[in-house]
Amino acid sequence: MACTQRRLEGKVAIITGGASGIGEASVRLFTKHGAKVIIADISDEAGEKLAESLSPSATFIHCDVSKESDVSAAVDSAMQKHGRVDIMFNNAGTADVQKGSVAEYDAKQFENVMNVNAKGVLHGMKHAARVMIPAKKGCIISTASVSAVLGGGMSYAYTASKHAIVGLSKSGAAELGKFGIRVNCVSPSIVATHMAVKLMEENTCSVEGEGRAMVEEWANSVGNLKGVTLKEDDIAQAAMYLASDEAKYVSGLNLVVDGGFTVVG
Ligand SMILES: NC(=O)c1ccc[n+]([C@@H]2O[C@H](COP(=O)([O-])OP(=O)(O)OC[C@H]3O[C@@H](n4cnc5c(N)ncnc54)[C@H](O)[C@@H]3O)[C@@H](O)[C@H]2O)c1
Repeated sequence: MACTQRRLEGKVAIITGGASGIGEASVRLFTKHGAKVIIADISDEAGEKLAESLSPSATFIHCDVSKESDVSAAVDSAMQKHGRVDIMFNNAGTADVQKGSVAEYDAKQFENVMNVNAKGVLHGMKHAARVMIPAKKGCIISTASVSAVLGGGMSYAYTASKHAIVGLSKSGAAELGKFGIRVNCVSPSIVATHMAVKLMEENTCSVEGEGRAMVEEWANSVGNLKGVTLKEDDIAQAAMYLASDEAKYVSGLNLVVDGGFTVVG
């Protein structure tokens, strides 16, 4: 029997990177479950189109998470519109392709990735805490990765930035628990989003076409759990669990959604 319960009824969420991929799936799922969602992204066209299609449950704001002033403005906009922020989902991320050894790795490239993935999460956590502390409740979720657990799969910058997200989340959970604020992260393995497709070297396919099939075929071949394919919606479901009252005592967790990939090594 299908479950008709709306698990986020009345909650207000900001989802960064909400215009595409895992973020988009989360925007769709969160609004379906009764949340009001602010999509905060640098992809204006996709973000506005998505918000329009889900209006009035979703709105869009241009937000580059690497800029603290943009994140602060997104939180202020949610406060003005809805009077509170219950869920901050720091999902925006970027990835670089590292060619060659660390001996030649470009420090500027490292900085660019860290600015979005690690500093972006810090900005989200900071400005969410600013409004959640007085409310004495709230939930902060960030998208890390299996690269927060393992080394070698991705670039130095990406791996370091995703490890940083786990550290930030543990620190946030430790400090903010006394204010009733839960802080967690979710760590996907491979999902065939634009980012994953782009990362497949020399690939010129679109995510809706061959690119998706190619990434999924590869993900399934290297994955531990056979017979299923990880999709954007599976990560959105994990994030929704962490955001919902069902996870009311869950804090400081890195919820790894990888079919056992990281336990096999
Ligand atoms: N796809 C995977 O296999 C995978 C695996 C593990 C973790 N992740 C993480 O999932 C998250 C979502 O990525 P995705 O796979 O859905 O990719 P995606 O490319 O479909 O979506 C990323 C979104 O983030 C936005 N974005 C990028 N830089 C931004 C910035 N500076 N400020 C605001 N928004 C920005 C993009 O415009 C886009 O809408 C990322 O943090 C990524 O690292 C993805």
